[in-house]
Amino acid sequence: AAANIGVVGLAVMGSNLARNLASREGNTVAVFNRSAERTRTLVDEHPEAGFVASESYDDFVASLAKPRTAIIMVQAGKGTDAVISELASRFEPGDIIVDGGNANFHDTIRREKDISPTGIHFVGAGISGGEEGALNGPSIMPGGSKQSYETLGPILSSIAAIAEGEPCVTHVGTDGAGHFVKMVHNGIEYADMQLIAEAYDLIRQGTGKSPAEIADIFAEWNTGELESYLIEITAEVLRQTDAATGKPLVDVILDEAGAKGTGAWTVQNALDLGVPTSGIAEAVFARSLSSKRAQREASVDLPGPSTAWTVDDADTDAFIEDVRQALYASKIIAYSQGFDEIIAGAEQFGWDVKKGDIAKIWRAGCIIRARFLNRIAEAYADDPGLVALVVAPYFRDAVAGAQESWRRVVAASAASGIPTPAFSSSLAYYDGLRAPRLPAALVQGQRDFFGAHTYKRVDRPGVFHTLWSGDHSEIETTPSSH
Ligand code: 6PG
Repeated sequence: AAANIGVVGLAVMGSNLARNLASREGNTVAVFNRSAERTRTLVDEHPEAGFVASESYDDFVASLAKPRTAIIMVQAGKGTDAVISELASRFEPGDIIVDGGNANFHDTIRREKDISPTGIHFVGAGISGGEEGALNGPSIMPGGSKQSYETLGPILSSIAAIAEGEPCVTHVGTDGAGHFVKMVHNGIEYADMQLIAEAYDLIRQGTGKSPAEIADIFAEWNTGELESYLIEITAEVLRQTDAATGKPLVDVILDEAGAKGTGAWTVQNALDLGVPTSGIAEAVFARSLSSKRAQREASVDLPGPSTAWTVDDADTDAFIEDVRQALYASKIIAYSQGFDEIIAGAEQFGWDVKKGDIAKIWRAGCIIRARFLNRIAEAYADDPGLVALVVAPYFRDAVAGAQESWRRVVAASAASGIPTPAFSSSLAYYDGLRAPRLPAALVQGQRDFFGAHTYKRVDRPGVFHTLWSGDHSEIETTPSSH
């Protein structure tokens, strides 16, 4: 037994993670893949890594020093269960199985429960940063037992991205906490991407600027408070010319967005937890709508605004600044909603998640890395019981400065028929939070009318019902169960 860590599953993410591990002082990395061809290719192409390669589970497990630690990097789903059972049948109490894929946290909770009687630790770990992150330093979100983190922590810290001297990894919480937080990370990723796409669309349609010119705008934005990986890569995508046609690449890419499911899970769980994550939901639905080809084609002639929309040359700079502000404010809402879901999930599933630590480990390595995550970390450090990110002084000021722009942009998009579901829903959410009175009072009245669902009053305690089908007098009652 020569290796202190093993990797099972050597597609790009697994290979890159294995190479990252091998490049760190003190690690010897065992590798295994179901088809041995891939293992051989990796070992041949990277002799410098000193991999200990195996072509069977028996040899792989035998090549690991005790307590054994293996990271599974296979496509999330049934394949993961198969690999877990191969390892679990050979591992011993105290050994650690890590699932580094994008597993559904409910599966992770189930898997941990199934394995824990054997004394083997099962750890679901979210790993973000794509192929490049896996190789050079991802952001890592491990769940599982505290005890397993004593062994895993140093290994994961050695390969994680570094933000201001700190490795982007922390023990997120027990069982499925890591995969839950990774799921919300991806939900925020969806929202952020959609918001950026809406900003691009508004500028393009409003000003007629070319994708390359808009790339320059994003590059400029990336020097300020919006600085982030997603803004940076957006500029690169917009600047790309298609070799075959000479057109901007963005104009020849089919406008139907794919999705592998983590964004939808974020919304499904938000619904279950009763957390309004409207920005994330609109981003997921925007991808769904984009893929409804038949409906879109049938709708192309539906009436829109009678006049085409253009921003006057003299107003262009101010308009672009409005869009930047709207993007920033909406982005604050997306993160605020995402953190709300983390807080609700932690409460529901019994995890001790430190919000500030999550913001810190997202500062580098992951897809949503952004300058303003420092501000989120500070906000939770200043007030661990913060009820909503958007009311923290820094974000409150940021939104105060942005809101007039935000309103102008949403109004212009509605008047000109440009869909901005994420901008608009984020603003509606913000105004919903702000409203001293909501029409929810009327909804309660309607519920009481047709179903005797009861209501509370603003002026005295108790639960009430109006006798709608009788004399319309009010009675005090016990709360409705439906
Ligand atoms: C990451 C990414 C990664 C993956 C997404 C893409 O953090 O590195 O989030 O996990 O790129 O799952 O998801 P979609 O294919 O659903 O856009």
